[in-house]
Amino acid sequence: MTRDIVALSDVTRSYGEPPTQALKGVDLTVEEGELVAIVGPSGSGKSTMLNLIGTLDRPTSGTAFIDGADVSRMSDVRLSALRAYRIGFVFQQFHLTEGFSAIDNVADGLIYTGISRRQRRLFARKALERVGLDHRLDHKPNQLSGGERQRVAIARAVVGEPSLLLADEPTGNLDSTSGAGVVELLRDLNETGTTVIVITHDIDLAESLPRRVSLRDGRIVADSGRVDSGRAA
Ligand SMILES: Nc1ncnc2c1ncn2[C@@H]1O[C@H](COP(=O)(O)OP(=O)(O)OP(=O)(O)O)[C@@H](O)[C@H]1O
Ligand SMILES: [Mg+2]
Repeated sequence: MTRDIVALSDVTRSYGEPPTQALKGVDLTVEEGELVAIVGPSGSGKSTMLNLIGTLDRPTSGTAFIDGADVSRMSDVRLSALRAYRIGFVFQQFHLTEGFSAIDNVADGLIYTGISRRQRRLFARKALERVGLDHRLDHKPNQLSGGERQRVAIARAVVGEPSLLLADEPTGNLDSTSGAGVVELLRDLNETGTTVIVITHDIDLAESLPRRVSLRDGRIVADSGRVDSGRAA
């Protein structure tokens, strides 16, 4: 039995006064275990929608259930807890802390868990092994290639074993080879059970993923639908 990890219902998000409507009545469900591409032109609302799914933001109207929790009704404290334990983020700009080694950047992803620094570093090492960077543990961001930095960022996002991994243009700053490596990694994580939602401008990448959701001007204009690998052929 699969369940919805994301359920957006008639979600709008307006900014400012007079309001700019970045999302205009979005319905979207994503089941546990899916790998979904979000596509659409610049300004169509992709990041806005991902931020809502990631509970970094709340809808102006409509409802958002993430991992079973009603985001509109939860306190900030409970939302941060949900985010810290269940959701991992990867961004185009990596967002690593300069001056800190790869292992410390990744260990930082566990800071909210209250486990000891020693334990955090142990888990961080395992996460870096998982992304193929066990030979770069002590390198600082400026001593890593773009592709390696993004792999460190992914290790940090998944070190707490989130059920949902959200990536906003994770290959946007990478050459095609490094980008392909990052995509492979997202696939591997998905195959081991993590639900992955990735925003991309890369048509080939989007086409290669099992499900594509297209946004235009704040609305979902196409959804290739979930692929039910369990019951298909
Ligand atoms: N904080 C904000 N205040 C006002 N308007 C905003 C804000 N954030 C986003 N918007 C507007 O909402 C719309 C959707 O923005 P969003 O960042 O979601 O687009 P996007 O699809 O991610 O675009 P891109 O591909 O360029 O990253 C845009 O028109 C944008 O100008
Ligand atoms: Mg964006």
